[in-house]
Amino acid sequence: MAAPPTILVFDSGLGGLTVLREIVRARPDARYVYVADDAFFPYGHHGEEEIIARVVPLLGELIGRHTPDLVVIACNTASTLVMSHLRDAYDLPFVGTVPAIKPACASSKTKRVSVLGTKGTVKREYTKKLIHDFGQGCEVTLVGSGELASLAEAALSGQDVSDVDIAAELAPCFVDGAARTDTVVLACTHYPLLLDRLVKLAPWPVDWIDPAPAIARRVSDLLGPPGDSRDEAGAEMLFTSNRPHRLSRALMPFFGGRVPA
Ligand code: DGL
Repeated sequence: MAAPPTILVFDSGLGGLTVLREIVRARPDARYVYVADDAFFPYGHHGEEEIIARVVPLLGELIGRHTPDLVVIACNTASTLVMSHLRDAYDLPFVGTVPAIKPACASSKTKRVSVLGTKGTVKREYTKKLIHDFGQGCEVTLVGSGELASLAEAALSGQDVSDVDIAAELAPCFVDGAARTDTVVLACTHYPLLLDRLVKLAPWPVDWIDPAPAIARRVSDLLGPPGDSRDEAGAEMLFTSNRPHRLSRALMPFFGGRVPA
């Protein structure tokens, strides 16, 4: 029987779990290594050169250690900078996570879309080019949040996070006027961790666009048809700070029910 493929999923923290969850659903046959670069979290607070200098060599080490068949950069703040560097440096398939501006603008009825990401992601040339190429006549509001990723980590770790703090980060997404915002792009993988609260705190209903299912489909296409092994392949979770993770059981749903080692 062929060995199950190994997929390495990388993020600055726990946000990439929202992408992992969809990939595990699509490919229960694979083995997963999830790496949170918590020693450098949050990426949204770092400069572009710093992120490239951090992520490219770190991925080299991780690829050397875990020999994945495919790597997913489950972080918009990094993917909008590093994908070409990674593809030049390492000879294996990489899948990135970038703001889902194209589907959001295609489906908006009011033609008013907001992109909610880290301060880094909304400043990127890459993001501006996506709007230029795929904006399809929409008015696009870029909203850079300084705190929402950290609030999502805190909530997942069981800490109390107030509605007021979340609502303050969300408010600039909602533009009222001749046309009202009807679509918000979740351009940071941490934000779907708070989706229930975002829906509850939104001043009016909108469509929330999360690229995770599309990423999972892309990963599955690149891997090719699943082998006959089913999900006994295991899962591992690592923090670059080397802190032990006490969350294993809480994280099981993201790993398709497996307890990450
Ligand atoms: N999860 C990351 C993203 O998708 C960002 C969080 C951070 O600032 O590190 O952009």
